[in-house]
Amino acid sequence: MKTLNKILLGLAVVGSLTIAAADGAALYKSCVACHGASGEKKALGKSEVITGWEASKTIAALKGYQDGTYGGAMKGLMKGQVKSLDDAQIEALAKHIETTK
Ligand code: HEC
Repeated sequence: MKTLNKILLGLAVVGSLTIAAADGAALYKSCVACHGASGEKKALGKSEVITGWEASKTIAALKGYQDGTYGGAMKGLMKGQVKSLDDAQIEALAKHIETTK
């Protein structure tokens, strides 16, 4: 019985994390100051406008910032923004950005 309880608790924790991670709109709130509510701003006058970017393009960019293989003069700044995101969160963000226009 104890083992079963542990399994159920584990499932509950995983379940709640998945729900939180899937909320791209909520995650995107931390990007608004620089990129604008719908990605329409050139962040700090430097980034491309990311409004409506295909999810695959955003995922590639964000993962590239994480491992240092993507970006321009200010990529260090973006690395700080994305370093703690996991794959599910990056995917959720990318899907949210794809819906912006
Ligand atoms: C403090 C301001 C700031 C915040 C907050 C910020 N960004 Fe950025 N972002 C930038 C800058 C500056 C660049 C350009 C960096 C470079 O030189 O590559 C950039 C670049 C990007 C790019 C690639 C665009 C390009 O020019 O190639 C994407 C995608 C992106 N940001 C997404 C996000 C997401 C998603 C978040 C929130 C999790 C976020 N950013 C938060 C400033 C910010």
